[in-house]
Amino acid sequence: MADLIRTLAVQYFQLVDPPTLALPPGNVLVQPAVQQALYEHMFDETLTPLPPTPYRTRVLKQILARIEESITDPEEDEILDSLMDAWGNLVVQPKPSALEQAQQLSTIKYTAPLQSPQTRERNVTILESQGLILSGGTTGNRTWEAALHLGSFLASPAGEALVHGKRIIELGAGTGFLSLFCARHLGVRGVVATDRELFLIENMRTCARLNQADGDIPFYPAVWDWGTRLEQTDEMSSMTGGGPLEFDAALGADLVYDTDLVPLLISTVRDLFSNYGVSQFITAATLRNEDTFRTFSNACEENAFSVEALPFESTPAEEQSGFFHSTNIPIRTFRISRA
Ligand SMILES: C[S@@+](CC[C@H](N)C(=O)[O-])C[C@H]1O[C@@H](n2cnc3c(N)ncnc32)[C@H](O)[C@@H]1O
Repeated sequence: MADLIRTLAVQYFQLVDPPTLALPPGNVLVQPAVQQALYEHMFDETLTPLPPTPYRTRVLKQILARIEESITDPEEDEILDSLMDAWGNLVVQPKPSALEQAQQLSTIKYTAPLQSPQTRERNVTILESQGLILSGGTTGNRTWEAALHLGSFLASPAGEALVHGKRIIELGAGTGFLSLFCARHLGVRGVVATDRELFLIENMRTCARLNQADGDIPFYPAVWDWGTRLEQTDEMSSMTGGGPLEFDAALGADLVYDTDLVPLLISTVRDLFSNYGVSQFITAATLRNEDTFRTFSNACEENAFSVEALPFESTPAEEQSGFFHSTNIPIRTFRISRA
C-alpha cells in the first residue's frame, strides 16, 4: 500500500497528466487508512510545493469518483472528512482561464526513480510552464522527456559514476532540471548550466534557491550561445579554483530536434573537446525524426567523433518509479568522445 501511495504522490507533485496517474484500485482507496494517507501526502494544504489548484481539483475529483464507485456498503464505507474538506476548499477557489493556466509558472517537484538499496528520496524542484512550449522563441520553458530519461540514467549507479566528483557543463539546459539534480544529489564538483536565453538562466537562479534546503549547491547557471566564448564568472571559481574554465564531461538533453541546429551543436561539442578539456559528451536524444538524427550522426562521423550508444533503456511508463515520462517516442542515450 505504501508503494501505491508513494507512486501516486510522486506523480502528483510532478503534475503528471491526471488520466495517466497510477490510481490505486477502488477496493484499496475505500480503506480509511489509505484515504488518510492520501490526505496527509497529497491534499494537506501545508504541504509544499502545492500543485496548482485546478490540477489538485482534477486529481481529487478523480479519486473521490473512484472511491464512490467502490462503496458497496454505505453504512461501512465512507469518504473521510479530511478529503471532503479538502474538496470543499478546492471547489470554492477562483478558477483561472485556460490561457491563464497555460501562462502560469508551476512549481514541479521531480522525484528520481527508486534505486535499491536506497535510503532517501532524491528530488528537484523546478519552476516551469508546461503550456508555454515555444514562448520567446525557445523550447526551454519545460523539462522534456529526454531530460527525464537522462536524469533516470544519471540516477542509476552507472550514470552517477559518470558525474560524481566531476566538473560538468550542460548545454541547452532549459529549466536546469538535469544540472540541478547533479548539483543537489549526484556529488558533482560543480555544474555550469548553460542556455542562450537570459530569462531561462534567471529562472534557474530562482530554482537554485528552491533546491538549497540542505545548504549551497555547486550549481552555476550562465548564458552561453553556442559559437561564442564561454566566460568564467566569479561563482565558477569555487569549481575551477581560479584556474582555467575546464570540465570533465558535458551533458545535453533533447538538443537534436532541428537539422539546421546540428552544425552549430557539433562545432560547439568540438570546441568543448578542444578548448574546455571535455572528454565526453553524454546526450539523450528523442528520436522524433529519422532525418534529423541521421544528420547528427553523419556530422559526428565527419568530425571523427566516436558515438557509443549507452545500454540504458527507458523503463516502460507504467513501471517507472520516478522522473515519470512518456516512452511513446524512443529516447536513446549516447556517449560522444573524440575517437
Ligand atoms: C528542446 S529544449 C531542451 C531543454 C532541456 N535540455 C530539456 O531537455 O528539458 C532545447 C534547449 O536548447 C537551447 N538552445 C537552442 N539553441 C541554442 C544555442 N544556439 N545556444 C544555446 N542554447 C541553445 C534552447 O534555448 C532550449 O533551452
